[in-house]
Amino acid sequence: MAEYDDLDDTGRRDFLLKVTTVVTGAGAVAASIPFVASMNPSAELLAKANTEVDLSDIPVGGMHTVAWQGKPIFILHRTPESIKAMEATNGGLKPEQDSDRVKKPEWLVVIGVCTHMGCVPNKEGPGWTCHCHGSQYDDSGRVLRGPAPNNLEVPPYRFIADNKIMIGQA
Ligand code: FES
Repeated sequence: MAEYDDLDDTGRRDFLLKVTTVVTGAGAVAASIPFVASMNPSAELLAKANTEVDLSDIPVGGMHTVAWQGKPIFILHRTPESIKAMEATNGGLKPEQDSDRVKKPEWLVVIGVCTHMGCVPNKEGPGWTCHCHGSQYDDSGRVLRGPAPNNLEVPPYRFIADNKIMIGQA
């Protein structure tokens, strides 16, 4: 390289430093593109971020469990008697209005993970029982007996049709 040969020692050192900086910078940019791209959620991941559920198969009094973001979601089709009972009380340990926990009285949608240590409660009669340590929840997902400290969490969801919900979108 003629230009390089014409330089004295100081000039050569500066030249090599500039070349190294340019090459290193280009490498860093090239290396960061896949890294940044990997931070964008894939279409598959986005699909799992939202779960569409057709409610028409769930009979009155029945419950379905679906997966959303790796968590079980309990969808309970409440009976008129259950709705009446849930609306008549604020729950137990963590009082909350039933109407603040549902979008339509006949449908309860909650994350099926016990708020104590994360076990999956069982549907037993009215409400749920967590057999890990004995916590109990009512048909609004409100904790009646600990050690669970909180009510079952209501995930973000919305009705996209009369009998269809999209979990993951408020
Ligand atoms: S994890 Fe449910 S009571 Fe402990």
